[in-house]
Amino acid sequence: MHPIYNTKMNESIIDELSARVKALSAKTEQEIEDLRVRLLGKKGEITKLFEEFRTVPAEQKRLFGQRLNVLKNEALQQLNALRESLSAGDSAASGEDLTMPGDAMPLGSRHPISITREEILSIYKKFGYSVAEGPEIEDDWHVFGALNFPPEHPARDMQDTFFINNQTDNNILLRTHTSSIQVRTMEKGQLPIRVVCPGRVFRNEAISARAHCIFHQVEGLYIDKNVSFADLKQAVLLFAQEMFGPDTQIRLRPSYFPFTEPSAEVDVSCNICKGKGCNICKGTGWLEIMGCGMVDPNVLEANGIDSKVYSGFAFGMGVERIAMLKWQVKDLREYFENDVRFLQEFATVV
Ligand code: DAH
Repeated sequence: MHPIYNTKMNESIIDELSARVKALSAKTEQEIEDLRVRLLGKKGEITKLFEEFRTVPAEQKRLFGQRLNVLKNEALQQLNALRESLSAGDSAASGEDLTMPGDAMPLGSRHPISITREEILSIYKKFGYSVAEGPEIEDDWHVFGALNFPPEHPARDMQDTFFINNQTDNNILLRTHTSSIQVRTMEKGQLPIRVVCPGRVFRNEAISARAHCIFHQVEGLYIDKNVSFADLKQAVLLFAQEMFGPDTQIRLRPSYFPFTEPSAEVDVSCNICKGKGCNICKGTGWLEIMGCGMVDPNVLEANGIDSKVYSGFAFGMGVERIAMLKWQVKDLREYFENDVRFLQEFATVV
């Protein structure tokens, strides 16, 4: 006997099909269509049951017919529901797990130059200095004239200047150092002065591992009554120890800048080999970090400050250089290329 003639068997086939219909899921339109064909197509499972309806004994026909119709409706409804949720973008129907954590978005990080600049400034802020900034496009007076570079002075050649030609003269230029902000601070006429001046500077230099046409400096200026070279030396030592560690030593070498007299170049003891000599300090045990000196009385006078009453010191350092020493960056160009592999190395520096 065909199983369909057995009432119990009929019921259980319908029950089982009904349970499967209610659990149907699909990820695409095509999958829904395949399910429809499998159930309700010409040779579909439900269609076959309808065909067998003819052979069901008369006393079972009513019940079996009712149950078949219910099953067919269930299948149609479920297929419709799948279609609707698919077009509504409901990913639950497609079996996606909405509780999965999202893809991590890579976060940007601070640039090493900006980290270093902030560290330098925060050290001086702690010492009571305030921060001043000035224009990148400057005039000859603020970059050279007021800083004791007379016209035709050979020291102007030390800094390869980008001039902005305005036809009549070469008076407008890109500042070659942040010492111009010293001048802008002094001309305000408020004394005493205790200021640090960060900024971008520009020099007409061929780009290489050790030189760039754009870089960053922090300038410092301290003017008051009775400021001495000993004060300068102490200020430089305290900065070096804050920046490079409490055991850091300094060494001053005589140098020349038009705006300071006497002038010095500051070296710090190499914090990599602890002074023994390595390839970073080229075997000397010392690393150059800044220029400094006592403000030349000519500079004070040019800016309206009485050099018989006031004295002061100034210093200037390259931010790239300090960052190179801190993280042993060997090639200056790395700072400007924005290679994320390089920048990511600083992501954990706070
Ligand atoms: N302006 C100098 C330069 O760009 C750096 C410098 C040296 C600044 C000595 C100073 C200083 O204030 O006293 O090379």
